Amino acid sequence: MPSERRGSMITLTPRDRLALGVAGACFLIILVIEQFSPANVVGAYGYVLPILLVTTLRNRTVMLVTVLACVAATYSGLLQPTKPGRFQAAVINRSVVVGVLLLVAYLGVSWEERKAREEAARAALAQETESLLKANTQLVQAKDQLNRSERLAAVGQLVASVAHEVGTPLHSIAWHVQALEEEPGVTPDMKKRIAIIDEQLTRVVNIIQDLLSSTRQRQPTPHWLVVQDVVGPAATLMEPAFHAKGISLTVQMPLGLPLIWADQEKMHQVLVNILANALAATPLGGSVTISAAARDATVEEQERGATVADRMPPLVLTLAVQDTGCGMPEADTQKAFEPFFTTKAIGKGTGLGLFLSRETVLAHGGSLALTSEIGRGTSVIITLPAIQTDRAHPMEDV
Ligand SMILES: Nc1ncnc2c1ncn2[C@@H]1O[C@H](COP(=O)(O)OP(=O)(O)OP(=O)(O)O)[C@@H](O)[C@H]1O
Ligand SMILES: [Mg+2]
Repeated sequence: MPSERRGSMITLTPRDRLALGVAGACFLIILVIEQFSPANVVGAYGYVLPILLVTTLRNRTVMLVTVLACVAATYSGLLQPTKPGRFQAAVINRSVVVGVLLLVAYLGVSWEERKAREEAARAALAQETESLLKANTQLVQAKDQLNRSERLAAVGQLVASVAHEVGTPLHSIAWHVQALEEEPGVTPDMKKRIAIIDEQLTRVVNIIQDLLSSTRQRQPTPHWLVVQDVVGPAATLMEPAFHAKGISLTVQMPLGLPLIWADQEKMHQVLVNILANALAATPLGGSVTISAAARDATVEEQERGATVADRMPPLVLTLAVQDTGCGMPEADTQKAFEPFFTTKAIGKGTGLGLFLSRETVLAHGGSLALTSEIGRGTSVIITLPAIQTDRAHPMEDV
């Protein structure tokens, strides 16, 4: 690992230190040898060794110092006594050695710099590949999401067309059944049977109308509402089911809560969905709590709220539905809001409850989030735009 330069600081790795130590030792040995063989220029070529070792440090300052020391040491050989008339030849010989040393230093530095550039390019390529892989994963996820949405739209269209096609002949059957009841020769026994047919037909017609209205989702039309007017009816509707399963359902509403920006019917449906999930996940003796609190809106919440709520105030109301149920594994909490994600048995759940609830809350300019811990329970938190008024609402238990 070559040394790194941070400003004027030089960080040396253990390998650099070893190379520097060996280079220093070589330098000293050659200097001593030169003392014992005066005017023998062959020893001075040995300075190539410390220069080559120092190139591996990839540090220009260290290289400059080394080359200067080696050049000075080479010329210092001239201080040794020479044979008469040989001084000029000694100067030329030592200058040739210095030339070789400078050439080696130049070639060494260029070689190492090229290697460093190649390593940097390889690292940049690896980083680029990693970010490309990440982008690819995101793309695959987005495609999955698109496929699911397309599936959802296709299912919706299918349901709507089947409901429409089946609805027309059903209306005509219902009309004929009613006409049959008014026929003069109808016996009381036949009347009873006709009434049963009529009743069951009405049920089928109602189911079809429900299906048609659910596939043609209407957009919420929110108003500023009292929180309790939204939470109360949902809790009252679900309470008997909680009671029957031996689970306590508590509503905690502090005083002086702000009004919320909500479509009463739509938010009622959202709460019923969330309470139904909590009911299914919580065992006998468990508890489910609905609590509300107001806080300042974050910048992001204000921006989101301003797109739908008139006069978006800087407040939000959080409604938390907390259960002491089975909780969810981390992987499921990520997928819980995806359409058709369900862990329930076939026929027990469609996997659309949380998906549709989130769509509804988002259409209110709010948000829906979920935290869960296996074995400890789940909290579903609804955030809605809120506005402060002087109307107070007492703490209430269902
Ligand atoms: N309170 C909760 N505790 C534990 N798991 C939950 C809770 N709420 C949701 N889940 C998990 O998230 C899944 C998706 O919930 P979602 O409401 O979207 O669909 P569902 O309840 O399975 O079906 P549907 O609501 O259509 O009847 C559930 O199947 C369940 O595994
Ligand atoms: Mg559900």
